[in-house]
Amino acid sequence: SPSRTAALRGRFVTFKGNPFTMPPEEALHVEEDGLILIENGKISLCGAYDALRTQVPDGMQVTHYPNSLISAGFIDTHVHYPQLPVIASWGEQLLEWLQQYVFPTEAKFSSPEVAQTVARAFLQELLRNGTTTAAVYCTVHPESVTAFFQESEKLGTRMIAGKVLMDRNAPDNLRDTARQGFDESQKLIEAWHGKGRQLYAITPRFAITSTPEQLECAGALFRSRDDLFMQTHLAENEDEIAFVKTLFPDRTSYLDVYDKAGLAGPRAIFGHAIHMHEHDFQHCHDTRCTLAHCPTSNLFLGSGAFRLFDALDPRRPVHVGLGTDIGAGTSFSLLSTMGEAYKVSLMAGKQRLHAIQAFWLATAGAAQSLHLERKIGTITPGMEADLCVLDPAATPLLALRSGECTSIADLLFVLMTLGDDRCVKATWVDGRPVHIRQDTAS
Ligand code: GUN
Ligand code: ZN
Repeated sequence: SPSRTAALRGRFVTFKGNPFTMPPEEALHVEEDGLILIENGKISLCGAYDALRTQVPDGMQVTHYPNSLISAGFIDTHVHYPQLPVIASWGEQLLEWLQQYVFPTEAKFSSPEVAQTVARAFLQELLRNGTTTAAVYCTVHPESVTAFFQESEKLGTRMIAGKVLMDRNAPDNLRDTARQGFDESQKLIEAWHGKGRQLYAITPRFAITSTPEQLECAGALFRSRDDLFMQTHLAENEDEIAFVKTLFPDRTSYLDVYDKAGLAGPRAIFGHAIHMHEHDFQHCHDTRCTLAHCPTSNLFLGSGAFRLFDALDPRRPVHVGLGTDIGAGTSFSLLSTMGEAYKVSLMAGKQRLHAIQAFWLATAGAAQSLHLERKIGTITPGMEADLCVLDPAATPLLALRSGECTSIADLLFVLMTLGDDRCVKATWVDGRPVHIRQDTAS
């Protein structure tokens, strides 16, 4: 409704703790028949339907979701909206893939019309997949950022986004300069950061495409306010890492390149971080930055296996979120991404990702890692009402398999292993239903 006031009934799950530091089942709260009351886009009350039913205001319709599982909306901590048209491009690893597929497509975003069309399609795809917040790379063109935030604002989604900074090792039509990148970012920050639900991320693409001077400018911007985000790529691919070494021979590691420019700190999101040393993880912990784990992308580009449990080592835990990394990633679905994260965790070490841990990484944990846990990521009074409604019987196979489940952990694991956009029955943003699945059967 336009008033952003509503009542939802159904089974819901949310987090009351961190399932990596306590028994997973104890970190999860399950309300078998729950009520979620929303006022002005925020959750005002939630709990057992039977206990709270009398609190539903007279005349308010209750939207009932039987046989469903309601969760906080998913959070994608690393994704490129302009790469929607190059998802599923064959045959290359990172640096060649950028040259062959990504740069030619990103060049088209000097056109505000192209940017608007793709931004719209991208945001619709996020919502179809139950994703309500994302940290999004635009292109080097300020128009690409304006178009994205305009479309996000129409939907009421909480998005983090920024203009890509690239002043070397990129085609002519995709380069800015250190000065130009600084000025354009500053203007976009003034226009969009904190406007409604929109948040700005300073976005140097990676060390290869920014001069030391540009990284310094990015650092100055990042320090200019205490609530800005920063996003970039880190230690994704062996060839990339070798190139960075030749460009920054005086730095002690890839992370050190960013750190010396003032780019490591709270709200700094580093994509991939696959080829990391212990001292890198330690430094990420010390500076409280965040790593975006993008398993479908890492598999697709053959980049390597992220060491999730090393990153999360309880002696010096690093914040981690999940990212789809479209267009290197192969799915918009955080469910599929969780499923691939489970497999990658097996490849990278002995510990297995628990389903409850995976759902935490995609919701409450991501919110914490972005320092947004007082706004999004859980179903709790005071939180912004961003929700996804999952259908555990979306396909014949899912219906059959989820019918065998005897615990919530089982059911979550089936959803992340077999589920995708087909399981998203509805997505609510800011107290409004913004996506309703066109139903076939269930
Ligand atoms: N490193 C620098 N740019 C990119 C990008 O667009 N995608 C991925 N996966 N890695 C990058
Ligand atoms: Zn990326």
